[in-house]
Amino acid sequence: MRTPITDLLGIEHPVVQGGMMWVGRAELAAAVSEAGGLGIITALTQPTPADLVREVERARALTSKPLGVNLTILPSIDPPPYAEYVRAIIDSGVEVIETAGANPEPFMGLLGGAGLTVLHKCTSVRHALKAQAVGVDAVSIDGFECAGHPGEGDVPGLVLVPATADALDIPFVASGGFADGRGLAAALVLGAHGVNMGTRFLCTQESPVSDAVKARIVEQTERDTVLIFRPLRNTARVAANSVGREVVRILDEGGEFADVRDLVAGARGRRLFDEGDLEAGIWSVGMAQGLVHDVPSAGEVVRRVVAEAEAVLRDALGSVSEGPRRASA
Ligand SMILES: Cc1cc2nc3c(=O)[nH]c(=O)nc-3n(C[C@H](O)[C@H](O)[C@H](O)COP(=O)(O)O)c2cc1C
Repeated sequence: MRTPITDLLGIEHPVVQGGMMWVGRAELAAAVSEAGGLGIITALTQPTPADLVREVERARALTSKPLGVNLTILPSIDPPPYAEYVRAIIDSGVEVIETAGANPEPFMGLLGGAGLTVLHKCTSVRHALKAQAVGVDAVSIDGFECAGHPGEGDVPGLVLVPATADALDIPFVASGGFADGRGLAAALVLGAHGVNMGTRFLCTQESPVSDAVKARIVEQTERDTVLIFRPLRNTARVAANSVGREVVRILDEGGEFADVRDLVAGARGRRLFDEGDLEAGIWSVGMAQGLVHDVPSAGEVVRRVVAEAEAVLRDALGSVSEGPRRASA
């Protein structure tokens, strides 16, 4: 399935595995890339820039196809050494960087000079246009349905994707709520050039999280997420477990970040993923979990999504042109 995104990224299928904290490691990213999509390693999952370079080397041993690294730049009291991670991403030799969380402008000179393709993830048409203006090569537009940070605009993909198609000149992938071939077909019809998926890839064999997390995703429906940090204007979509609900309650009752800091600590989330204690902390998951019913390999997800999208598009075309005739027969 060839689109402007497959051409730009040098991949076979218009399917990207979005960066995922604690999840985007070598095995998962390599499996997605090897199947013809774009696998993305998450930079900040690695404790140091040198560890990141080693993680990319591990992925490289598993695939020679294009790979990406996600760098998420979020406000922090004690920020990681972002510039050093950027340098490590360049040195690692990956083809693509997925930037997220903030305007990538400060790093564009360095990245462009190094020949990396910059895929910037954002949640509004305004920010997509800004990213285009500062020179990114492509955009990933994340709708309200998504796992993680949907922004504060609350615009779901059904409107956000065509609105982005109307506004942008560069290629883009639709993100948030996509988990199967119907989603990819819809994204293409709405004007995107592919999809970015997080939740679907979180629930695959190569995803390095406990089987309990995967079983919970299969069990949960599209209704089982909550939005935390709304009053702080830093909204994040996480699983509707006891900790997520407690965070919502505390902040809704006027609490401040300091009151929930311990509940949302990254170390708790990591323990949850590693040990499968589903009430140990918060964990990102999207509404798309309602569309996830199994734990296939990541390569199988890529192949299945593409095959299903092709079939759905053919069937839709058939039913549009043949429908009235069938009705009158
Ligand atoms: C467990 C998990 C961790 C995530 N961590 C990050 C992250 O560190 N940086 C980032 O840009 N996006 C992160 N995301 C968001 C995904 O890259 C992607 O944009 C999102 O999952 C798309 O929505 P979907 O889950 O409906 O497919 C995360 C998503 C999940 C499920």
